[in-house]
Amino acid sequence: MRETLEKIRESALQQIQSVGEILGLEQIRIRYLGKKGELTAVLRGMGALPAEERPKIGELANRVRADIEEAIAARQRREQAAALEKRLKEERLDVTMPGTPVPAGHLHPLTRVQRQLEDIFIGMGFSIEEGPEVELDYYNFQALNIPENHPARDTQDTFYITDNILLRSQTSAVQARAMERSKPPIRIISPGRVYRSDALDATHSPLFHQLEGLVVDRGITMGDLKGTLEIFAGKMFGEGTRIRFRPHHFPFTEPSAEVDISCYVCGGKGCSLCKGEGWIEILGAGMVHPFVLSNCGIDPEVYSGFAFGMGIERIAMKVYSIDDIRLFYENDGRFLEQF
Ligand code: DAH
Repeated sequence: MRETLEKIRESALQQIQSVGEILGLEQIRIRYLGKKGELTAVLRGMGALPAEERPKIGELANRVRADIEEAIAARQRREQAAALEKRLKEERLDVTMPGTPVPAGHLHPLTRVQRQLEDIFIGMGFSIEEGPEVELDYYNFQALNIPENHPARDTQDTFYITDNILLRSQTSAVQARAMERSKPPIRIISPGRVYRSDALDATHSPLFHQLEGLVVDRGITMGDLKGTLEIFAGKMFGEGTRIRFRPHHFPFTEPSAEVDISCYVCGGKGCSLCKGEGWIEILGAGMVHPFVLSNCGIDPEVYSGFAFGMGIERIAMKVYSIDDIRLFYENDGRFLEQF
């Protein structure tokens, strides 16, 4: 019996070592230690032994059982460790490998120019005023001294929602709203979208952007307008940029002017950017018309003001040498990523 036990141990341990897969271990356990297993069979036969032999054989049988159990457990631990090792190797991440780049965009050139303009005027004490793009005819035209059938409406034909409601053709509409809303001193800029029923070509777009400026207070003069625009021109186009006022007509300012800056490429000598002129037209401006002040509840005997308006596309096209306005709106990455 002792020999049988030793043989069982030997062959069990040998199988436990050599079995190919971990599932095989369970079969080995059943074969030796299960209810109908070989070791169990030997133990059942112990009754036939002489009484003094029984404890020794019993002890040996228990040791054989323990040895087999321990061998199975050891083999299982080895298998598990090997499997873990394998997974760690396979699933290892090389943290030094370059990552997948997330394509990050940047500000649109129009946004950049608009923010630059805002920064300059905020630095001079202006605050930003907003107004609706869907606007009343009254604010876009009538309050600004452009009554129905006024010829100035021709160049600012826009999109009408009803007879009285339109897409604003100029940020000047915000002037009237700002004056109605608050008492002088008023010092605001208002950037935003404007609309005109123009066909799209290299220099026209039915949607574009303007930035309006308005200052109203006691004793505001054209000198204040000039000084303000001079500082603006120096900050936007470079120190030493000169400005030039040309007489013009706008219904809502009197006197009115178109304002040019000295060409920041040639300094005024004439080059391809300024088309040989030495000057670049940049904005419209003037002293707020007394009718406009009184339309908006401000006494023109007490207060005066100046206003100006510029096209953001026009400035961006000059600053970045862009020759076609359509490029701003086409969302072509090859164009946009250059800025
Ligand atoms: N609103 C004018 C336009 O769209 C530009 C302009 C001219 C604005 C003179 C002003 C101004 O505030 O004083 O052509």
